[in-house]
Amino acid sequence: MNPQVQKNISLAKYNTFGVDVRAKKFIKIEHESQLEELYTQNIFKEPFFVLGGGSNVLFTKDIDKTIIHIAIKGKEHQTENNSIYVHAGGGEVWNDLVWYCVDNGLPGMENLALIPGTVGASPIQNIGAYGTELMDIFYTCRAFDTQTGKFRTFKHEDCHFSYRDSIFKTKYKNRFIITSVSYKLSYQNSINTKYGKIKEELAHRKIEHPDIKDIAEVVSHIRVEKLPDPSTVGNAGSFFKNPIIEEDTFTELHTKFPGLVFFPIEKHKYKLAAGWLIESCGWKGKTVGAAGVWKNQALVLINANGASGADIFNLSEQISKDVYNKYGVLLEREVNIL
Ligand code: FAD
Ligand code: EPU
Repeated sequence: MNPQVQKNISLAKYNTFGVDVRAKKFIKIEHESQLEELYTQNIFKEPFFVLGGGSNVLFTKDIDKTIIHIAIKGKEHQTENNSIYVHAGGGEVWNDLVWYCVDNGLPGMENLALIPGTVGASPIQNIGAYGTELMDIFYTCRAFDTQTGKFRTFKHEDCHFSYRDSIFKTKYKNRFIITSVSYKLSYQNSINTKYGKIKEELAHRKIEHPDIKDIAEVVSHIRVEKLPDPSTVGNAGSFFKNPIIEEDTFTELHTKFPGLVFFPIEKHKYKLAAGWLIESCGWKGKTVGAAGVWKNQALVLINANGASGADIFNLSEQISKDVYNKYGVLLEREVNIL
């Protein structure tokens, strides 16, 4: 089936900030073969942008590029000895895949419940939450090379995963389109309650021996309490990454600001809680015009009331400047700005 090209369409319902910009061209992809078709039409010789659920993008102006929206569906699993291989189309909703696994008793994804977005985007920034990262369960992904028109399979070691990062954000940025992902789970995966909030909520519910459904429910509950629901308050989750700094800088900062919230991550490296840095600059719950900072989580910028992408971007600039002036720490954006 030839892919349909829509022209000059509103992207308001294709981004979780709910920003209303228009795209010059918009193409929905439901089958891999449609990408090969687009290649023969030289579509990838012009500027394009791959869009999944739009939960990690901020559109600051009309998009003068072709939007390639991945809507390839399908999910299945098979078991070999103790390993479970889960395969899903790039356009599947991530949280639906998590619940497919939970409902089928397949352990490993439950801590990643309720993260918005699609399966195809999950390797891009190596999504992570509540003690699990995508890299812990990733097996392979199949991706279309827009430069050669061929498909390629990426193994774990090809992806160079790290905190909120992969090869798809660096060397191969805007080159490969992920059409499906395979995950490797195991019946021997143990329940992961290392994140303090999970333990607290399980104790509150008097659950001593949680199963994967309990974990998915508890994680979903914690998320709903803390993060705004994009269907009512536009947002893209954490706007910035948590900064990682070296020991010398850390020691200096910690001496000056004993309240600093941090996590030692590897030898001589510390991750700072960006939410704390932003809150301590007085931004939590504040609005500037129609853009704002979420009242329960200072790392989340919101579309408070019909903000444009530029309003939200300008607010992020003011926040970065304040954090830099007070702490000398540069905040790097997690959200992709267009
Ligand atoms: P999009 O926003 O559409 O795209 C994101 C990036 O991936 C873009 O660069 C895009 O070009 C690229 N991309 C998308 N699909 C493909 C594809 N098929 N092939 C190649 N490139 C592609 N993230 C976390 O890691 N942890 C969290 O806990 C978390 N919580 C969130 C909470 C809320 C309320 C929201 C709104 C967002 C949160 N996020 C979180 C961010 C977001 O959910 C993830 O980044 C998610 O993976 C984005 O998926 P998407 O399909 O919406 O991607
Ligand atoms: N904090 C504050 N004030 C705030 C927010 C946070 O002081 O307003 C401090 C608190 O001390 C808190 C600590 O920061 O204990 C950590 O906060 P939280 O547990 O909310 O996690 P986070 O570091 O802010 C990260 C991810 C989230 C992920 C959660 C849970 C990043 C950039 N963000 O947030 O991912 O859901 O941990 O694992 O790493 C996303 O990427 O979009 C996202 C939501």
